[in-house]
Amino acid sequence: MILVTGGAGYIGSHAVLELLQAGHEVLVLDNLCNSSRTALARVERIAGRPVQFVRGDVRNRSMLTALFAAYPVTAVLHFAGLKAVGESVREPLRYYETNVSGSIALCQAMAEAGIFKLVFSSSATVYGDAQQMPITEEAPTGQPTNPYGQSKLMAENVLHGLAASDPRWSIGLMRYFNPIGAHESGLIGEDPNGIPNNLLPYMLQVAVGRRKSLSVFGSDYPTPDGTGIRDYIHVVDLAKGHLKALERLEQVQGVSVWNLGTGLGHSVLEMVYAFEKVLGRALPHSFEPRRPGDIAQCWSDPSKALAELGWRAERDLTCMLADAWRWQSQNPHGYSVPQKAAADLA
Ligand code: NAD
Ligand code: WQD
Repeated sequence: MILVTGGAGYIGSHAVLELLQAGHEVLVLDNLCNSSRTALARVERIAGRPVQFVRGDVRNRSMLTALFAAYPVTAVLHFAGLKAVGESVREPLRYYETNVSGSIALCQAMAEAGIFKLVFSSSATVYGDAQQMPITEEAPTGQPTNPYGQSKLMAENVLHGLAASDPRWSIGLMRYFNPIGAHESGLIGEDPNGIPNNLLPYMLQVAVGRRKSLSVFGSDYPTPDGTGIRDYIHVVDLAKGHLKALERLEQVQGVSVWNLGTGLGHSVLEMVYAFEKVLGRALPHSFEPRRPGDIAQCWSDPSKALAELGWRAERDLTCMLADAWRWQSQNPHGYSVPQKAAADLA
């Protein structure tokens, strides 16, 4: 059985679905602080198989001990964490506590239970403002400029130290570039709380009429069209990478680092134009100053994951945007039922 922490969340729910479809038994641990139980109900519906669910906090060591005593867990995918950059600047301790201390509590309980396979959700943010594109795993980890990024780098360092101390550990550090998109069914997807920080969720909410216009942050970057460039990757491709990592961790010990990206960079304006094609209409947008802390460009060299995991991203930008739009247009308010619809149902 595979334990998926944060399995009700955006990336976790897609990984749970892939695990179920590959025949694994899955246990989800999530405190639902940024997700909904509905996501897992939908995952079960798509897979036609049940998911075990425990509502709990990854920082709760004694609960974790009881969990490992009660379920035959053999490996852990650790998605549970907080991820909003701006919030992390305002509430740094909450971010360090969840992302660093939560990971430590999890590893302590795993070791106690004799479980030593861990796949960790890291981020390209650990590279900081990288000087060379594309970014390989050998690129120096930079100085992330916010507590969120710092917490991911700190957790990576904790895991390096842990693996060096005990050869039984097999740990995959998965450095995600920019996950977007949704499962092709349109039943599960990203459902941010409040005003979205990330580009695609914001564009989707403009398209569905929840927001007026997209602000394009910065048009004076040293890029061909002046807007920021990122490596957007389909969340289903990302989820599949975790299954490949699990397989690989059966064969290798210590820490392995893998970039999960497409190797292609797209500017904000390219994203807007590609999305307009999918929509069949214009997306209102205006140019605004740069967002503080943003970098000009960031894209991956994903060849290590291809060589070692036999994994590569297969879904192109049009597919990412079409799948994301299917999810958003079928679920304009995400997993929550808006009040009027709830009244209609009653
Ligand atoms: P998400 O917020 O949708 O999912 C995280 C899940 O963890 C949520 O279901 C939340 O309820 C749960 N959670 C949070 N704190 C918890 C706690 N203390 N105990 C138990 N559960 C808890 O985010 P996501 O986009 O699916 O991200 C998953 C992981 O990937 C995170 O660790 C995130 O930092 C990392 N990551 C995300 C991105 C991205 O752009 N989405 C990029 C790089 C890395
Ligand atoms: C992408 C591009 C913006 C919103 C963040 C985190 C990173 C990782 C992924 C977790 C940039 C521009 C955005 C908007 C815009 N998360 N933009 N208007 O900044 O690459 O990464 O999410 O690990 O740690 O920092 O992603 O989607 O916020 O921005 O013009 O309303 O879109 O300036 O060029 P980013 P993003």
